[in-house]
Amino acid sequence: MLTPAQIAVVKATAPVVAANANRITGTFYPLMFERFPEVRAVFNQSHQRGGAQPEALANAIIAYASNIDRLEVLGPAVEGIVQKHVSLNITPDQYGIVGACLMEAIGRVLGDAVTAEVADAWGAAYWQLARLLIAAEEAEYARKAALTGGWRGARRFRIAGKTAESAVITSFRLEPVDGGRVMDFLPGQYLGLKLAIGGETVHRNYSLSASPNGRDYRISVKREAQGLVSGFLHDRARVGDELEVYPPAGEFVLREGDGPLLLITGGVGQTPALPLAEQALAAGRKVVYVHAAINGSVHAFRNHLDDLAGRHAGLTTVYCYAEPETTDQPHLTGLLDRERLAALLPREPGVAAYVVGPKPFMTAVIGALTALGLPASAIFHEFFGPKEAIA
Ligand SMILES: Cc1cc2nc3c(=O)[nH]c(=O)nc-3n(C[C@H](O)[C@H](O)[C@H](O)COP(=O)(O)OP(=O)(O)OC[C@H]3O[C@@H](n4cnc5c(N)ncnc54)[C@H](O)[C@@H]3O)c2cc1C
Ligand code: HEM
Repeated sequence: MLTPAQIAVVKATAPVVAANANRITGTFYPLMFERFPEVRAVFNQSHQRGGAQPEALANAIIAYASNIDRLEVLGPAVEGIVQKHVSLNITPDQYGIVGACLMEAIGRVLGDAVTAEVADAWGAAYWQLARLLIAAEEAEYARKAALTGGWRGARRFRIAGKTAESAVITSFRLEPVDGGRVMDFLPGQYLGLKLAIGGETVHRNYSLSASPNGRDYRISVKREAQGLVSGFLHDRARVGDELEVYPPAGEFVLREGDGPLLLITGGVGQTPALPLAEQALAAGRKVVYVHAAINGSVHAFRNHLDDLAGRHAGLTTVYCYAEPETTDQPHLTGLLDRERLAALLPREPGVAAYVVGPKPFMTAVIGALTALGLPASAIFHEFFGPKEAIA
C-alpha cells in the first residue's frame, strides 16, 4: 500500500508524467530491449515501430496515476492487460526488469524533477500495480493449469493440418505433441505462439477460429505483406512441424444475455467470430453475421457459414464486398454505412454487437452503431494488436 504522502506525490506529479508519457515509454522500450534481449523477444517489434505498444503503456501509466487513490475504476483495463500478459507467459521476474527500466526512463526524461521523494513514490506506485498484476496473472496461470487438458507455460504442438481458406487466409490445426487433451477455451479467445524463425524467437497472438473440441485448436492466419510470422506460416511451415503454444486467453468473450448477437467483421477479423456465432446459436440466441471483404477471392469460411445457416434458422449471414469481381455474389456491395447497419440491426431488445477488423473499419462501424442508439455497454471490439482508442 502506498502511504498518503506517496499518493500525494504521485498525484502532484501525474500531470508532468502524463505530459511526457510518450517520451518516457519511447525511452523505456529501447533501453529495456538493449539491456535485456530475452525480454525483447516477447514483444511484437511491429507494434513498437508503429508506436501503438508504447502508447498503450503510456495510456496505462496515465490512467493508473490519475486514479492512484481509487484503483477500483481500473478493473476492466487491468483484466485486459492480465489476459494479454498471460497469453505471452509474462513472469514475475520480468516485472523487476520493467520496473527498473521504467524508473530509469522517467529519470532520463524528467531529469532533476525526479527528486528522491518523487522516485520513491513512483517506485512504490509501480510495485503496487505490479503486485496486483502478478497476483492476478498467477491466479490465471494456476486456473488454466488445473483445467482438464490445461497447462502452464509453453507446450509443444504439431501442425496437424494446413488448409487454404481464401487467397490470403490459411488455417492451421494444432494438436499437442504429448497426445493429451487440450483445455476448452471461451469462444473469442486467442493463443500465444512462440516460434523460432531464422534464429530469432518471436511471439504472436492468433484467435481460435474453431469451437473447442478437447483434441486440438485451429487458428487462421492472414498473409501480411512482409509479415514475419504470417509469411513463415504460409510459406514455410508444414504439416508435422512443431511450435510452442501458451494456453488460450482473452476477454473478447460472449457476455451473459439472451438477446440477439450482431457479429460484424472485416477481413481476417472474422476468426474469433466463428466460434462466437456457434456458441450463441447453441444457446438459442439469434445471430446476425455480417462480414465485409474486398471480394470473393479473399472471403474465407463462406461455405462453412452457409452450411451453419442451413442448420440454424436463427442465423442470418450478410456478406458485403467492397470491390466485387464479376463472378462474385455478395448480399451487399460497397462499404457498411449507417443506413445499411440500421437495416441489419435486430429489432428485439438486448442486442449485443461484437466488432472485429482493422481500426478504420471498427471506428466506422462502432460510430454507426452508436449513432443508431446501441449503448456502449452493448458494443464489444477486439484489436489484432495493442488496444487503441476508438474515436
Ligand atoms: C488478440 C489478437 C488476435 C489476433 N488474431 C489473429 C488472427 O486470427 N489471424 C491473423 O491473421 N492475425 C491475428 N492477429 C495478428 C497477429 O498476431 C500478427 O500481428 C499478424 O499475423 C502479423 O504478424 P507478422 O509477423 O506476419 O507481421 P509483422 O512482421 O509483425 O509485420 C506486421 C506489418 O508491419 C509491416 N512491417 C514489418 N516490418 C516492417 C518494417 N521494418 N518497416 C515497416 N513496416 C514493417 C509488415 O509489412 C506488416 O504489414 C491477432 C493479434 C492479436 C493481438
Ligand atoms: C506494471 C507493469 C505493467 C503494465 C502497467 C503493463 C501494461 C501493458 C499494457 C497496457 C499493454 C497493452 C495491452 C493491450 O493492448 O492489449 C501491455 C502489453 C504487453 N506487456 Fe505489459 N505491462 C506491465 C508489465 C509488463 C512486464 C513485466 C512485461 C514483461 C516483459 C510485459 C510485457 C508485455 C507484452 C509482451 C505485451 C504485448 C506487447 C505487444 O503487443 O507487442 N508487461 N502491457
